[in-house]
Parts: sequence; structure tokens; C-alpha cells
Amino acid sequence: MNLAEAKKRLAACGQEHVLEYWKGLSKAERSALLAQVAAIDPKSVKACAAALGGGGAAAVDTSRGLAPKVAELKGAALARAVAAGERELKAGRVAALLVAGGQGSRLGYDGPKGCYSIGPVTGAPLFHFHARKILARSRRYGKPIPFYVMTSEANNAATVECFRANGYFGLDPKDVFFFTQGMWPGMTKDGKIILDAPGHIFMSPDGHGGLLAALKRSGALDDMKRRGIRSVFFFQVDNPLVEIADPAFVGYHVLERSEYSLKLCAKRDPFEKVGMPMLVGGRYRMVEYTEMTKEQCLRKKGGKLYYLYGSPAIHVFDRAFLAREAAKAMPLHLAFKKIPYVAGGKVVKPAEPNGYKFEKFIFDILPNARRAAFLAFAQKDEFSPVKNAEGNDSPATCRADMRAKWARMLAAAGVKVPESMPLEIDPAYALDADDLVRRGLVLG
Ligand code: UD1
Repeated sequence: MNLAEAKKRLAACGQEHVLEYWKGLSKAERSALLAQVAAIDPKSVKACAAALGGGGAAAVDTSRGLAPKVAELKGAALARAVAAGERELKAGRVAALLVAGGQGSRLGYDGPKGCYSIGPVTGAPLFHFHARKILARSRRYGKPIPFYVMTSEANNAATVECFRANGYFGLDPKDVFFFTQGMWPGMTKDGKIILDAPGHIFMSPDGHGGLLAALKRSGALDDMKRRGIRSVFFFQVDNPLVEIADPAFVGYHVLERSEYSLKLCAKRDPFEKVGMPMLVGGRYRMVEYTEMTKEQCLRKKGGKLYYLYGSPAIHVFDRAFLAREAAKAMPLHLAFKKIPYVAGGKVVKPAEPNGYKFEKFIFDILPNARRAAFLAFAQKDEFSPVKNAEGNDSPATCRADMRAKWARMLAAAGVKVPESMPLEIDPAYALDADDLVRRGLVLG
């Protein structure tokens, strides 16, 4: 892109000021700025500016939202769901989709969160537990489960290197597909793009909802179609307890002819930081923990929380639904943040929030699903995220929960381990108690 083209593109979205410091820029700074402008889509910039006027997606009134009906599978219903899920896995119609583009800022970790060492004995990274579960599940059913990993510009190279250095954790590299989410410029209250240096636009990742555009742009959606994928198991990088491509969940999704299915668990306390699905105006939608009022959080029915169930962000999507949604614009969420800016040619670090970042959330496509399904599960078995450096949802609580789960697995296979004994089981060695018994190392 040359200067004239950049001027034209910026004029198309009312952002001519981006070139304000052009004259004083070095050759390298000029070409870097032109590359940034070339990557800007005027339509998206206009959508961001327009969202500032409307308050973004959070403006929806959810005060009369109803709690969804959540299934608990037991006995014959559970067996039917497992059989249906196993059919899908044996036919190779299931993919795994991981969003790993976020920054571990709350955790205080600089690299990709997936590289964070979590294995209580081996110190293996979060990616190890995800990839080894996929490997185990695909071996069990005799068909690959292609693994789609969304990264961001900031962590893509380090993520790919982590997989390479670890031999893809045993997966066949041709079944692992990395793709990068988009970045959006930050804006002032009046919709002007913020420069964080005279020759540089402040950019931030477009949220995990950027997944849809990125799946399309990267060819991952076409790849899924080519492979005959029907169900896409979605999960977040911070939760090593997740049961990836769990046959019961996949099977329930397929039997319900759902386009978007969610696993839900009872909240540990009314203010737990998890999103809650609600029926609002005849459609399901996810209400973020930041959007719930105190009264809503505490409301009770028959002694139980009215909004009992929270979302650990474990979903199954119908692939065709993702393709349909990828062609549409998504709502924008605004975050008012401290963003460095340039005044009189000098960089200023503000003490108070001064500008907006824009994010898309994948669960905003929930209202568009023709059918949705909600499945309950026990939090202790499948959800223990690593979010904070200390306290709740920290590496310490997560490692303790991992150990407790492995101890339950061993107990189910007939082995009791002393509380003080360090414990770690490679998912590719044993996914569950049955695997342990089959391995013959455990006397039933
Ligand atoms: C998220 C969910 C919340 C859910 C909770 C469960 C949102 C807005 N909220 O909260 O409903 O109950 O997890 O743990 O997501 N990510 C990207 N790109 C981005 C931003 C995030 O790939 O631009 C990925 C992260 O790597 C992570 C996941 O999305 O895997 C969630 O991000 P995070 O910021 O940790 O979400 P929470 O606020 O904890």
C-alpha cells in the first residue's frame, strides 16, 4: 500500500488523523504504518465507531431473563448419548477447537497461556493435557480428531514453537491447524483511532468471537468441511480438566439436533465469574458475569439459586452453523481502558481510562442457533481454570483439582493412593479408570 492508497482507505472511515505525524516518520516507521493501515478494514472501523454510540452488545436488557432447562444425563439416556457420540467419533466427524489467543495478564504470565507449566509432577504445559486427550480419544475411536488452535499475533510463533519442540505432543502435525485471530484499533470516546506512537496504531485482539472470521479467513472452515466434520468441540486454554470430545456431550448434541450445545455446572458461589445462559425474549443468550446485577445473582427459587448454572465455556457447535454465522457481523463489546496516546508528538501514558478496546464473544451467536441444548456436569470433574496467580482459579487450586481427579480415577480402578503421594497421569496413557484397568497396571 502506498501513501495515496492509505489516505483513501482512512478517508473512507473518517480516520485521516492517523497520518498526522507522517512527515516526521523514518522510512521503516512509514512502511510499518502503511502495513497497519493496509490491514484495517474500513467497514469494521465504522462498526466500532458506531458501537460507541449504542453502548455495544452489553446494552441488551436481561433483567427478565429466564433460567434455561438443563439436562442431567443418567442411566439409559446417558447410554444413548454415549453411543451416539461414539458413532460420531468412529466416523471421524468430530473436531476439537481451542481458543488460545488471550493474554495471561491476570495470571501474570508473559508467554502463551497454553505453555504455562501445570503438570503437578512433570511440569508439562497446559497444551500437553489438551493435545494428549485428543490423541487418546482419537486412538480409542480409530479416527483423527483434527485440532484447530486459535492464536493471536502476539503469541502465534511461541505457540507453534511449543508444539514443535514437544513433538506435537504425539499428534500428527497434519491434524493440527493453527490460525490467528484478528486485531482491532483502539478508539477515543468520539470514535477516533488511537496512535500509541507517532507512527503506530494501538491494536488489540478482537476477542474469542474473532474466531469465526479467523476460521473463515484461514481456510479452517473449508478444511473441516473437506474432512467431513459435523460437530466441533470448543474449549478454552486455561482448563486442563476439560473432557475434550466427550462422547456423551457430542452424542447429546447430535441427538438433540442442536446447533449450539453448552455444558453447564452449578456455580460454586452466586458471584462466581462465569457467564450464564438465559432465555431472553424467546431466545437464549449468554449473560456475562460482569453484566449480572447483585439482585439477579442472589435471586432464589425453592431454596436454590435461580440462575444456578454457569458456563465453563465448553461447547459443541454444528459445523454448518459456524459456517452460517461466519458470514455475519457479530455484536461488539466495549472495554474502557488506559491506552497510551500521542499528544503534540509525545507519547502519554494516561492515569485513567481514556479509550476503548473492542471485542467479539463467541457465545453471542447463541441467539441465532435454531436449536440449543444445555447439559449439566459436575464441576470437580471438568472445570478448574487457571486464571489468577493466587487464590481462586489459580495454578495451586488447579493442580489440586487435577490430582483429586486422578486419585478418583485410580480409586475407581481399585487403587487407593496416600494423600501425600504426588500424582500425575498422562491422558494418552489413561483417559479414565477403564483405561487403567485395561493397562493391567491396576488390579481391579
Ligand atoms: C470466560 C467467559 C465466561 C466463562 C469463563 C469460564 C468471556 C468473555 N467470558 O471468562 O463466560 O464463564 O471464561 O472460564 O469469554 N481468548 C482468545 N482471544 C481473545 C480473548 C480471549 O483466544 O482475544 C481466549 C483465551 O485464550 C481463553 C478464553 O478465550 O482461552 C477465555 O478468555 P478469558 O479472558 O480468560 O475469559 P474470562 O473472563 O475468564
